[in-house]
Amino acid sequence: MSINPLPPAKPPTGVGRVPIARWFVFAGAATAVAFLAGVALIMLMIAQARELAPKPEVAAQIDRLNVALVVLFVVILVAGVALAFIVRFTVLDPIARLTEQVRTVAGGDFDHRLGVERPAELAELSSHIDSMRRRILSAWRTASDQADELRRSNGELEQFAYVASHDLQEPLRKVASFTQMLEQRYENELDDRARQYIHYAVDGAKRMQLLINDLLDFSRVGRVGGEKAPMDSGVAVRAALDNLSAAIEDAGATVTTGELPRVTGSPSQLTQLFQNLIENAVKFRGDEPPQVRIEAVERDGMWEFSCSDNGIGVDPKYADRIFLIFQRLHPRDVYAGTGIGLALCRKIVDYHGGRLWLDGDSGETGGRGTTFRWTLPAAGDDDA
Ligand SMILES: Nc1ncnc2c1ncn2[C@@H]1O[C@H](COP(=O)(O)OP(=O)(O)OP(=O)(O)O)[C@@H](O)[C@H]1O
Ligand SMILES: [Mg+2]
Repeated sequence: MSINPLPPAKPPTGVGRVPIARWFVFAGAATAVAFLAGVALIMLMIAQARELAPKPEVAAQIDRLNVALVVLFVVILVAGVALAFIVRFTVLDPIARLTEQVRTVAGGDFDHRLGVERPAELAELSSHIDSMRRRILSAWRTASDQADELRRSNGELEQFAYVASHDLQEPLRKVASFTQMLEQRYENELDDRARQYIHYAVDGAKRMQLLINDLLDFSRVGRVGGEKAPMDSGVAVRAALDNLSAAIEDAGATVTTGELPRVTGSPSQLTQLFQNLIENAVKFRGDEPPQVRIEAVERDGMWEFSCSDNGIGVDPKYADRIFLIFQRLHPRDVYAGTGIGLALCRKIVDYHGGRLWLDGDSGETGGRGTTFRWTLPAAGDDDA
């Protein structure tokens, strides 16, 4: 199994850049030079002592000293060479093996086992690193299984919402139209109360139709159509304004836009997005005629859009709630609607890999008005 490779290791700095093996080579070479110089110096001193023609006992003592020194030098030489081999086989080689294993794991092969048998310190270190690897791996596997499970159940829920809303449309249409036919056909035989009951029934059925249509639109995002391609976001805004022309005219609203960029998106979904946001800006107006402004600025390879209005504003404490499906802050007889618009907008923006939020600071209008912001991916360079 392999997951995304980690970034390359941070290179060491300062004297730490020199590998430990090279330190040993430097130190060994310096010791060898000092050792040879010492041998040469002592041999020279012994030769000079002999030239002084010492007494026979002193000469014999010098010979013994000479032999003792030669033995000592040989022992030191053998010990030095043995130390170099010990360091190499017990420290440097295991470190190199452990480094290679860690590099393989860091390179993305998280199933690769780590472990060196000696020396004891490195064996302990490698076993701790390996148990850390196994624990991280098992936590990652659990998280990944849960993510798969969530994706699956989310898909099932979406499928359920889609099928339920799609299949409910037909019987509901029948209820509404037959109740209306009942009213028309027996109009003269019905008293006021019966007419009122029929009116309630028709009204309820129509409202349910509206809810079901909205739910169907919601569950269609990311399932039906909606292929993303480079497009001019201005086209989506113009289509939205066209669809809203009657509402805009009725409200005496002015909608202005800044320069609008090319983005990667689905034209039909982005039209729905702009339409819902502009519709809200016009619908939730204050006493003055609505002024709506749409702008975009580039940030980190994405376009950040904003839609600001001078309407009644949203209390910041509801900044999350308004994006939930069927959540509204006003009764239906004050402002019409089902409460799906912003949930749909958020789903569309999520589907495009962006983020939609209520700007906490509606600044310019002195706390009144509302600004929604969202991001969309910029169109690539090769698609102009
Ligand atoms: N521009 C805005 N100004 C003030 N309040 C807003 C604005 N946009 C949204 N809201 C608040 O957020 C709530 C949710 O908005 P949303 O668009 O989801 O639903 P809706 O407009 O009431 O119904 P629908 O969009 O389904 O017709 C609204 O009921 C309203 O209270
Ligand atoms: Mg709305």
